[in-house]
Amino acid sequence: MKACRREPAPCTPVWLMRQAGRYMKEYRDVRDRYGFLELCKDSDLAAEVTVNAVKRLGVDAAIIFSDILVLVEPMGFHLEYAKGDGPVIHNPIRLAADVSRISSVKDGDGLEFVYEAIRKTRKDLPSDIPLIGFAGAPFTLASYMIEGKGSRNFIRTKSMMYTEPDAWRRLMTKIAQSLLGYLQAQISAGAQAVQLFDSWVGCLSPQDYKRYVLPYSRQVIRGIPAGTPVIHFGTETATLLELMKEAGGQVIGIDWRVDLDVAWKRLGDVAIQGNLDPAVLFADIPDIRRQAKRILDQAAARPGHIFNLGHGVLPNTPVGHVKALVDAVHEMSRR
Ligand code: CP3
Repeated sequence: MKACRREPAPCTPVWLMRQAGRYMKEYRDVRDRYGFLELCKDSDLAAEVTVNAVKRLGVDAAIIFSDILVLVEPMGFHLEYAKGDGPVIHNPIRLAADVSRISSVKDGDGLEFVYEAIRKTRKDLPSDIPLIGFAGAPFTLASYMIEGKGSRNFIRTKSMMYTEPDAWRRLMTKIAQSLLGYLQAQISAGAQAVQLFDSWVGCLSPQDYKRYVLPYSRQVIRGIPAGTPVIHFGTETATLLELMKEAGGQVIGIDWRVDLDVAWKRLGDVAIQGNLDPAVLFADIPDIRRQAKRILDQAAARPGHIFNLGHGVLPNTPVGHVKALVDAVHEMSRR
């Protein structure tokens, strides 16, 4: 929390996106017994998985176990996590007229299981470990709603943006309104910071980001109560960083394709989260330490650095290497 506010901290805080994921045996054991969405919707299990990851790794923050796509169900989409294929939306938006059938979620209604999991997690976590809530950013959510799954070129999404600007505006407005209530409800339940994941936004040119995305991300971020830091994260955003800052967030999350010192210089007065390549965790521990040290050197002990990966922990990552990274960051940054 201090790092979010750019206040000095005793050492550089570290947490990892997807820290409770499939690379962890404890998680896979739970998943052997429950489907992914079933797990997200069972607040006891979601809280257990969230807290386990913190205990196992010794990280400085928890992120609530959930998924960016749970919001699409109350908005009217049929979501499934098909085995091995990642998430699928069975009734994606294909025509401008489809936007009218999409509901705007009021006050985060229909996602009570998330708030319940947040309340339980907050109770079970040590008091000095902050709990991060999260949601997908408007563009990344819109791209799932339109493509129906992950995409390489985002042709359908961009086609709607370019050829149906009014439908795009209506869709992004519904998403932004839904997100605001959803994040506010997470905060009321006990989330102390929130992260917006704009995982796919790097496919856009700066001009298109500014015109088609920035106003909606800004609307969400501006609506978050002062005092709750927003971490604004995206990948492949080296060309978008200044615009992401313009959209808002006390902390900007960066990936490894940009050097942290260069990014920070460009961004100026904001906190930074990142940015180790998650693939580095497959290297030997001395290499992992060296690469972590390089990032800490780039941050140069300036207040406002939150150490993280540049994207989520990958499946099959050795858990011992993840723990070694967390320990190394603490040890090498102690002031
Ligand atoms: O970080 C954490 O520990 C909290 C949990 C979390 C999950 N998803 C759990 C999850 C978070 C923060 C997310 C965010 C998320 N979900 C994003 C943004 C971050 C990113 O990685 O870019 C996106 C794009 C999604 C959508 C999503 N969910 C995909 C593409 C997939 C399948 C691919 C994959 O990584 O597994 C999921 C499923 C998912 N979400 C799993 C987990 C642990 C794996 C499901 C399983 O158990 O099989």
